[in-house]
Amino acid sequence: MANARELALQTLTDILIEGAYSNHALSEQIEKNELTVQDKNFMTELVYGTLQHEQLLNFYVTPFFKGKVKAWIRILIQMTLYQILFLDSVPEHAAISEAVTIAKKRGGQFNGKLVNAILREIMRTPLPSFETIKDQEERLAIETSHPLWLIKLWSKQYGYEKAVQMAKANNERVHVTIRVNGVKGTREELKQKLESEGITCTYGSLSEDALVVLKGNVIQTKAFEQGWFYVQDESSMLVGRALKPKHHSKVLDTCSAPGGKTTHLAEIMRQTGTVYAHDVYDHKIKLIEANVNRLGLTNVVATLQDAMTLNERYEAESFDAILVDAPCSGLGILRRHPEVKLTKKPSDLDEITSIQKQILNTVAPLLKPGGTLVYSTCTVNRKENDKMIEQFLGQHSDYELDSTLVKRLPDALSDQTQHGMVQLFPGDYQTDGFFIACLKRQG
Ligand SMILES: C[S@@+](CC[C@H](N)C(=O)[O-])C[C@H]1O[C@@H](n2cnc3c(N)ncnc32)[C@H](O)[C@@H]1O
Repeated sequence: MANARELALQTLTDILIEGAYSNHALSEQIEKNELTVQDKNFMTELVYGTLQHEQLLNFYVTPFFKGKVKAWIRILIQMTLYQILFLDSVPEHAAISEAVTIAKKRGGQFNGKLVNAILREIMRTPLPSFETIKDQEERLAIETSHPLWLIKLWSKQYGYEKAVQMAKANNERVHVTIRVNGVKGTREELKQKLESEGITCTYGSLSEDALVVLKGNVIQTKAFEQGWFYVQDESSMLVGRALKPKHHSKVLDTCSAPGGKTTHLAEIMRQTGTVYAHDVYDHKIKLIEANVNRLGLTNVVATLQDAMTLNERYEAESFDAILVDAPCSGLGILRRHPEVKLTKKPSDLDEITSIQKQILNTVAPLLKPGGTLVYSTCTVNRKENDKMIEQFLGQHSDYELDSTLVKRLPDALSDQTQHGMVQLFPGDYQTDGFFIACLKRQG
């Protein structure tokens, strides 16, 4: 049987040194190794917990490193400190002794002794107080393990209190949420089916399509195999409802892999009409097709195409509805992808806004007059969200915001939905941070 801590360390080095995505790196190790359910859960906790608090752990451990220390040793010490500070179930002596064993196995006696000495010195010394950090944004950044530039950006754009809310929410554990495939049956029927397979779930708090999984692995159920649901955050489920294509519509989904919203649109159209789904990466088209097939949908055509050239493929005014679920900075999904806090740079934000602008400009003429275009992102950054739409409207006088959006969203969001746009913040409703704008082309 493999050792959960050792595998967690390997996963963390893959993510932090090799730049792997947390979800991919973790599932790869879990699939490759024989582990009990308990060990899988522990390993997942260690990987996500250490990533979520990486900057805080770094703040604590850095004073104890004298000279250059190997990257894996730093990560091992951070991971061990995470267990001691955040996990009640792990006694300090057990965490340290396991770390020393791993260090010896991986790097010999010398490294075992080094890890032992550093960890024992850390534990002998009182933790530094945050009160010594006078600037409130700097303090929040360290305390909640977010890059300072991001805390400053959120404070400036949404206010300091909102930045605090988001930073804290990003460190909370998330439940898996799933969207019922309306073509197969109702949410109530799905809940019963899953319960009969030993899964505990409850209704989502926002989306009429959502179930929140409280216990059990839904991916290993028959209901999953039979295409009864799609794993998706509740915020993303609002997009299909926002666009609400009529039956028999011709819909364009410009950036669709792995197909979460494509399949929802196809379900809402109840197997009528066609969703033309595109993405710029070939391997991702296969992911869309796999999801469409598993869900048993027959009204999706998935093809490789750069959204910035869709005007070469389709005539003007060809579509009843268009979805631009744009590539974005992903600052709304840090709960699920904490490594993004470590890898994203402010310059990435400018690059992505330029792509979003080009995609919107390219597809704007493809919508029929009277048709609806929804633009969405999983980020919390005004330049990619409301400011992007303002700019688009400034250049496209044939488009206007659709204020009826509020009627297609849950009542809970009626105050937040202003003039056809809504921004969800992490911590509002236990969803990702997400933005939706709904536009109409004048007819
Ligand atoms: C936010 S994700 C889409 C998620 C998808 N709509 C869903 O609900 O499952 C953005 C997607 O845009 C794709 N993408 C990035 N640049 C693109 C481009 N120039 N043209 C088309 N797709 C692009 C990415 O490969 C990625 O799959």
